[in-house]
Amino acid sequence: MRKKLVAGNWKMHGGLQANSALLDRIVESLPSLACDVLVCVPFPYLFQVAERLAGSRLALGAQNVSEHAAGAFTGEVSAPMLAELGCSFVIVGHSERRALYGEGDLLVAAKCKAVLAAGMWPVLCVGETLAEREAGETLAVVARQLRAVIDCVGVASFSRMVVAYEPVWAIGTGMTASPVQAEVVHAAIRRQFAELDSVVAEGLRILYGGSVKPQNAMELFAQPNIDGGLIGGAALVADDFLAICHAAN
Ligand code: PGA
Repeated sequence: MRKKLVAGNWKMHGGLQANSALLDRIVESLPSLACDVLVCVPFPYLFQVAERLAGSRLALGAQNVSEHAAGAFTGEVSAPMLAELGCSFVIVGHSERRALYGEGDLLVAAKCKAVLAAGMWPVLCVGETLAEREAGETLAVVARQLRAVIDCVGVASFSRMVVAYEPVWAIGTGMTASPVQAEVVHAAIRRQFAELDSVVAEGLRILYGGSVKPQNAMELFAQPNIDGGLIGGAALVADDFLAICHAAN
C-alpha cells in the first residue's frame, strides 16, 4: 500500500506572520493525520519554516531549483543549498514554470537530476493544456513529459521521486478533473512505469493537482492510482488544507 501524501504548494504567497499561524495549525494537527504532509514554500521562508518544523514529521520542500550545483548563475538557487536548509522535496516542472518561464522537458529533467544528486526527492509535475486535451493528446503529452525525465535520470530513480499529474486547465481555475478523468491519466502513468520496472511502478506515488478542495478531495483520493494531492489555493487556508489531509486518511 502506498502511503498517501498531501503536499501544499504555497506558490508566491506568504508572509512571516501568516506562515507562522498556518504552520502552528498544521503542526498541532499532525498527530491526527495518517498521511504524509509536505509544504513547499517560497525560498525566503525556507529558513523560517525549517525552524518551525524541526522535530515534527511535516516535510519541507521548495518550488523550484537550478539545474546547476554552484557557479555564476545570478539569482538562482541550487539543490545543495535547499538540502542544507532542510528541504527533502522540490517541485520540478510545475506548469507555471513551463508556461511562464519557458522550462522545457530537457531543463525539467536536468533539474530532477540535480535534486536527486543532492539527496532530495523531486515532485515532478506533468499535465496537458486545455487545447491538448481537446485535441485528444492528453496521454501522449504526459508520456512525453515523463519520458524526457526517465531518459535523463533512469527509471530506478523514480523510487525516490513523486509524480504530480496537474492538468493545466484545472490549476487555480476551480475546474477540477473529475475523479474518473484523473484516474485515467494516473493509471496510464503507472502503466508507463510498469512497462519499465514493475517494482518502481507499484511504489510510485502519483499525486493529483488542480483545484483540489475539501469538497472533492475524498472522491479523488479514493481512486486506485491517486496517491494524494498537490494543493495550491487551498493550502493557504488552514481549515481547507487540514480537511484535505483528513480526506487522505
Ligand atoms: P490549485 O493549484 O490547487 O490552486 O489549483 C495546484 C498547483 O498549482 O499545484
